[in-house]
Formats: sequence, structure tokens, C-alpha cells
Amino acid sequence: MDFQTLCVLGLGYIGLPTASTFATHGLRVIGVDVDRHVVDVLRNGEVHIHEPGLRTLVQAAIHSGNLVVSEVPEAADAFVIAVPTPLSEGADKQADLSYVIAASESIVPYIQPGNLVVLESTSPPRTTLDVVAPILERSGLQAGSDFHLAYTPERVLPGQILRELIENARVIGGIDRASAEAGRDLYAIFVRGEILLTDATTAEMVKLMENTYRDINIAVANEFARVADRLGVDIWEAIELANRHPRIDILRPGPGVGGHCISIDPWFLVQTAPDLTPITQQARQTNDDQPAYVVNLVNQTLDGLSGRRIAALGLAYKSDVDDLRESPAIEVARLLASEGAKVRTYEPFDPGAVVPGAEPAASLEMALQDVEAVILLVDHQTFRELDPQQVKGMMSGHVAIDTHGVWDRAAWDSAGFELHVLGVGGENA
Ligand SMILES: NC(=O)c1ccc[n+]([C@@H]2O[C@H](COP(=O)([O-])OP(=O)(O)OC[C@H]3O[C@@H](n4cnc5c(N)ncnc54)[C@H](O)[C@@H]3O)[C@@H](O)[C@H]2O)c1
Repeated sequence: MDFQTLCVLGLGYIGLPTASTFATHGLRVIGVDVDRHVVDVLRNGEVHIHEPGLRTLVQAAIHSGNLVVSEVPEAADAFVIAVPTPLSEGADKQADLSYVIAASESIVPYIQPGNLVVLESTSPPRTTLDVVAPILERSGLQAGSDFHLAYTPERVLPGQILRELIENARVIGGIDRASAEAGRDLYAIFVRGEILLTDATTAEMVKLMENTYRDINIAVANEFARVADRLGVDIWEAIELANRHPRIDILRPGPGVGGHCISIDPWFLVQTAPDLTPITQQARQTNDDQPAYVVNLVNQTLDGLSGRRIAALGLAYKSDVDDLRESPAIEVARLLASEGAKVRTYEPFDPGAVVPGAEPAASLEMALQDVEAVILLVDHQTFRELDPQQVKGMMSGHVAIDTHGVWDRAAWDSAGFELHVLGVGGENA
């Protein structure tokens, strides 16, 4: 199939790079977002999210005239839906498909025979078939016979999105073979990785399996760290030694699992088959409990939390990104504050970010001023490289807690710190 025009719904971490990359590869793209602020920022030549290289790419796409930003869709050869799929409010951990539904409804007036519609939003299995197709068919056109419909999971790594968008292998699942092939023709415009065709439900399941597999493997690393703490074993050394086995690759423990994908997507699998997913559910529970485990570690280290002055470094859900969604670092800071600690947070990618009960600091110096303890919650490069001598000079106490196992123990010791590392013995025994 030949594509000249494309309409991308949702201009966030996924939709904006995708729309811009298609535009810089010659397609005329209309990028749609219902958030007026997002549209205004982009129209002013700015970018509302932090991703290396994205600003330059977006500006190139807009200056070329190939990317136009709007609050409403337009007719196009193809439509890509990249809107959020969070968990619904409430305790039942179900996918909130309201954004996918609204985006699908918004293109009904514009869809024409021969068009391709692709869902990129991470979704429970059968969403393309059971949710998106019936909405689009309100146009009077039949999915499959009148227009193509496909699902493609997005697997890019924040911080590396622009490169991975092009280089990663891409799975494209059609509701029929012709839809999968139409999807391949669209993404082949810029994808240099392998393009693998399958059916829509398999493609939806692939994405959920990938993130569930990661979640379970992080959960077991966190479990190992807890056992190591109790036994007085150094988990970081133990993992390094275990990973010398040719078929073992244990992941790194930490303060928990966050972000818009790994901490959420496993629930989409669980909602589909709760009786068949006990390991998935337990892993979610283990990782969700990890911030409380870290708070307990801090509590024991400081011999109580009430009134203790603590600097919490990092709030993002992982290193070197500005994304705070579902961040375990925020949960640790919030819990410390709720236990009576005086917590000052510093997130270099978003210094204004506010955690309930804690005080945001505009700089590292301001965060560290007069605190008794510093806790590393996110292993941003800038925090990995901290000079312990300088840190010591800025704070009044001498306790440091490393939840990522990245600070050089000898250097922190010789700077006069009492350094405690997650998974290194005895603290939570
Ligand atoms: N961020 C990631 O690293 C990542 C990776 C893989 C998959 N995903 C999946 O991709 C999807 C999008 O995630 P994201 O991180 O880009 O989300 P995001 O929140 O950064 O962006 C989504 C955008 O969609 C807009 N939007 C909401 N409803 C809309 C509608 N009806 N029409 C047009 N725009 C609408 C929002 O205003 C927002 O700007 C999610 O399903 C997510 O799980 C994300």
C-alpha cells in the first residue's frame, strides 16, 4: 500500500516521536492531541517532554511543513492511535480504555474505504477486535473488507526512543493478513529493524508478555536482595557471580518498579485471566511492596524516622528520564514523609515536582543543606557521579543510603559516610 497522509492521535512519549519520524520521512502528518497545552507548546516550536534529540526532530518536522498539529483529526490514508492506557481508578486494576475509545470515536467521521487504522496503545488482549473495530464500524464501513485494522506494540526505551523507533524489530498484528501487510507497508517507511507479521491479538499479547517477564525478573531480584539483607550477604556481589553462569542473567534490585509500562501492563494480562496468572500477580505485589521495604531499611538505619532530616535524590521512575509516572521513588519519599521524616526531594529533570508531605528543592545544594541523611532513589548519571566529599560538605549528617548499588563504597567510606546499600546485609533482618 502507498501512504501519503497520516493522522496520529496522541502526541506524548510515543505519538510525538512517531508522528515526527513519519513526517521527516516524507509523509504529510497531522498530529492530534486533545490537550490544548500540548498543541500550543508544539505550535510554538517547543516540546513538552524530555527525550534526547526529540526537540530537533519535532522542529525539523514542523519546519518542513510535513507535521501539522491540531486538536481535531482530519481525513488521511492511515491513522495511528497512541493515547494513554492507564489503570482505572479503584482497586480492581483494570485497564482504563476510555482514551482508546475516545480516540477511536474521534476518527469515525473521517475514516474512508481503503484506510489503515493502527492501535499502538498497550492494551488487554482482544482490544483491537472487541473494542476498536466495533467503534470504527459505526462509520458504516466494515473492518477488514472496507478498511485495514492492525495493532503494533511499541517497545522503545525512554532515553533512546528516536534510535529504537527506527532500529527495533516491530511486531505488527492485523485483524486479517491484508491489514498486517498494510501495517508493514506503513512502518517500513522508517523502520530498519525486522518487521514481523502476526494477528492482532497475538501482537497485543506479545507486548504484555514482554513487560510481565521483566516485572517478574525484577521481582525475583528484589526478593534475592531481601534474603541477602537477612543473611548478611552482599547481593551485588552474589548477582555478579551468578551471572557468570552462561545461562543466567539476574536483573538488578532497587526501590521498586514504576513507569507507564512495566508496573501496569502485567495487570492487563491478569484481568484477562486472573485464575491463570498467580506468578504475575505475586511479582506485582513484591515490586509494589519494595518502596515500603526501602522505607523500613531507612527507618532501621536512622533508628526511627520522626523528625529526621532526609534528602531524597531522584523522583523519576528510572534513570535519566523526566517521567515520574508510577515512580517508586515518589512512593518512598511519600512514605518517609508520612512516617514523620522531614524529606527534601530533588529531581533534576523536574525540580518543581511535588511529593505530598515533602519539600521540593531547586538544586542539589538546597536539597542537601542541613540534612542528616541522603538517600539515592534514582540512579541518574548525575547522581552516580556525585563526589562524596562535596556531598559531605553540603550536609550536616553522615548517613548515605544507596538503593541502586551504584555508589563507590570505598570513596563514600573514606569521605566519612556511614553508607548503607540495599541488599547488603543485616539492615532489615
Ligand atoms: N512511554 C513509553 O515509554 C511507552 C512505551 C511503550 C508503550 N507505551 C504505550 O503507548 C501509549 C501512549 O503512551 P505515552 O507514554 O505516549 O502517553 P502520554 O501520556 O505521554 O501521551 C498520550 C497523549 O495522548 C493524548 N490524548 C489522550 N486522549 C486523546 C484523544 N482522544 N485524542 C488525541 N490525543 C489524546 C494526551 O493528551 C497525551 O498528550 C500507552 O498505551 C502506553 O502504555 C508507552
